[in-house]
Amino acid sequence: MDHLFLRACRREPVERVPVWFMRQAGRYMPEYRAVRAGASFWEMCRTPELACQVTLQPIERFGFDAAILFSDILVVLPPMGLEVEFGEGGPSLTARVERAADVERLAVPDPEASVPFVMEAVRQIRRGLADRVPLIGFAGAPFTLACYAVEGGGSKQWERTKSMMFADPVAFRRLLDKLTATCAAYLEAQVAAGAQAVQLFDSWAGILARTDFREFALGPVARIIESLRGSRTWAERGGVPIIYFVNGCAPYLGDLAQSGADVLGIDWRVDLGEARRRVGPVAVQGNLDPTALFAPEEVVRQRVADVLGSAGSAPGHIFNLGHGILPGTDPARVATAVEAVRELSSAGV
Ligand code: CP3
Repeated sequence: MDHLFLRACRREPVERVPVWFMRQAGRYMPEYRAVRAGASFWEMCRTPELACQVTLQPIERFGFDAAILFSDILVVLPPMGLEVEFGEGGPSLTARVERAADVERLAVPDPEASVPFVMEAVRQIRRGLADRVPLIGFAGAPFTLACYAVEGGGSKQWERTKSMMFADPVAFRRLLDKLTATCAAYLEAQVAAGAQAVQLFDSWAGILARTDFREFALGPVARIIESLRGSRTWAERGGVPIIYFVNGCAPYLGDLAQSGADVLGIDWRVDLGEARRRVGPVAVQGNLDPTALFAPEEVVRQRVADVLGSAGSAPGHIFNLGHGILPGTDPARVATAVEAVRELSSAGV
């Protein structure tokens, strides 16, 4: 019998709803902070033994039904020619993309040559998991990566990114094309190394007007998915499920099926039942509000029940948060949520 998570991705019947959380390995866990005390975040990403160790921590503590590679969406930027630093205020780039000439200088790196530590981490994690649960690989989606590349770091309004998109769409498209080629090769390399599903994170696509979303976010993602599905690696690995997560996806629910993804990640602002009606025949993943984990135990259980109730009983639901887990989260509440998913979904809601 195949893993619960993989069966749910393929919309096959399951005995209970599988559960994992975006950003499940992180600072909210004391055992993560212990490793992090001895290494910088980049060191952890670039050292397969450390990446492997922290990937397994949430599996061992909470019994999640899938592991996600410990890394970051920004690891592909340095080999493209954009150095990234992680400080107290989050990531920042030493030089940002401002104009067409900056885009032309960017490389489309070979993942095996430029980020071999990621594929080595995937192999070590697979060994460490010993098939207990499947491993999810991931990449940032091109639009979200372009946001960081153009802005030079995080932002509230992403004014520089949108200015470039409006003022020089030719250069902006060229940037997206390079990111698209980079991500397609990167995901294929992760699958070849042993990733059993892959997720594209489009954390900032929700800032776009609907037509811009279709052109600048969905289009590049659809091309990555098409390229992955057409690859020999993907076929040889039995067609691993592809997940597309858009934070703030509500305005685009009717468009998301065109991504070609097997599973759509839905943020917490949307009713999951409505999302399922609007996205068509694909699986959905989500969508507990990450801040609901700051509530008392009974409220966490109730909110988990609400999400399961909205999702309904049709096959093809993977329980997750509606966005990444927050660093201030109490691990005890994570345990409460995971237990609630197990109890309530096997009893039938
Ligand atoms: O899900 C997982 O557990 C896998 C690991 C993972 C990380 N980042 C580890 C991380 C994944 C899948 C990501 C994706 C990521 N990274 C996204 C998309 C998802 C999202 O949250 O929207 C984005 C936008 C980034 C970029 C990024 N990385 C930011 C903005 C920050 C700073 C904010 C923060 O949480 O510190 C990071 C750093 C980061 N990535 C940390 C971790 C565990 C914290 C680093 C530390 O230990 O100090």
